[in-house]
Amino acid sequence: MENFEFYSPTYFVFGKDNENRAGEFVKRFGGTKVLIHYGGGSVVRSGLLDRVKASLDREAIPYVELGGVMPNPRSGLVYEGIDLCRKENVDFVLAVGGGSTIDSSKAIAAGTVYDGDFWDFYQGKRIEKALSVGTILTIAAAGSEGSPDTVITKEEGMFKRGASGDAVRPKFSILNPALTQTLPAYQTAAGITDIMAHLYERYLTNSEEVEVTDRLIESLLLTMAHEGPRVIADPDNYEARANIMWAGMAAHNNMCGVGRSQDWLSHTIEHELSALYDCAHGAGLAVTMPAVFTYELSHNVMRFAQVAVRVWGCQMDFAHPEVTAKAGIEAFRNFLISIGMPKNFEELGAKEEDIPKLVDVLCNGDGRNGTISGFITLNEEDCTKIYKMMV
Ligand code: NZQ
Ligand code: ZN
Repeated sequence: MENFEFYSPTYFVFGKDNENRAGEFVKRFGGTKVLIHYGGGSVVRSGLLDRVKASLDREAIPYVELGGVMPNPRSGLVYEGIDLCRKENVDFVLAVGGGSTIDSSKAIAAGTVYDGDFWDFYQGKRIEKALSVGTILTIAAAGSEGSPDTVITKEEGMFKRGASGDAVRPKFSILNPALTQTLPAYQTAAGITDIMAHLYERYLTNSEEVEVTDRLIESLLLTMAHEGPRVIADPDNYEARANIMWAGMAAHNNMCGVGRSQDWLSHTIEHELSALYDCAHGAGLAVTMPAVFTYELSHNVMRFAQVAVRVWGCQMDFAHPEVTAKAGIEAFRNFLISIGMPKNFEELGAKEEDIPKLVDVLCNGDGRNGTISGFITLNEEDCTKIYKMMV
């Protein structure tokens, strides 16, 4: 196990009706003027936004609002949010929605107190200072409710990039599984896929002797494999949604990723798909992961064989561990298809003829130098082969 530091100070409030306590938590964490940030309208239609406003009113906390965050959140609305926060002297950004809304909120929070262009953070500058952020989560997926990360798409060039810093870790996150019951089945499945991707990206490590985090990841993958189909069959199943929601947080606050190197090649490769085609991030991952894993397999067959046996119940073939490893990838792929995720470019809405463009932006766009690295290092030729495997 490698040396690590772990700091995860978010205050989690889990369970039914807790969105009505948003004002109480904004106050507890020092907010005196709030920006309520939300997406394309689901929180308006469900009445959640009104409940959140009522709870701020009860605490006499003034607020301004900015809706319209799109999935794969864009830089344009971030600039708008930064201007609004400065003009209105906002000191607390309250995200009401999914990962996109939370990420946009984090970007606004960091950009408001920064003299330069907020995009600097998405080109490698660490976020050291930000307004406080709180979240009310409506979809179990990205894990942004407990992470120091934010992913934004720059409209000019459609670069989708991540930034990070403990300053944007949410001060509190309210997790009410019942709020996720209004999700369309496809979004629920995309969220399940993203959560499992966050686990796999950590599982694929070059570090040795990482049994405790291996076992944590395996238990969360097993949970997802069990609860995923239950919630797809019965969208109102509160208990299944509760388990998935907490697994989504645990998958990505890095408790499972400390002391070990991590992969993240599937995410890096997928981000170009959701940037270009505006597909759901989880759906893009469902198509990307099996191809990336198959490509990476020979780098460490035993790691893929291990997850195949421990999570997917495959029989270990000691003479031919690559057979077991491949069976595990196939089992995962079939699982994703069974919950309604796409299996190839066509079902995702991606086009084979775009592969040269995808590879160019992936490997050379926005300051990259021809390769991307994770479990292994990939050049343009590798990435072309991987995208072709998804066709
Ligand atoms: O915009 P609204 O109208 O709210 O609709 C959303 C959106 O269309 C809808 N939705 C959310 N909750 C709902 C609901 N519809 C009905 N009922 C509800 N309760 O679902 C759609 C997707 O929402 P979005 O916020 O985009 O989903 P998700 O949480 O999957 O976030 C995806 C974004 O997070 C980034 C992804 O790249 C993508 O941009 N990621 C962020 C990470 C992080 N910050 O740590 C890590 C992840 O790997 C990921 O990259
Ligand atoms: Zn993800």
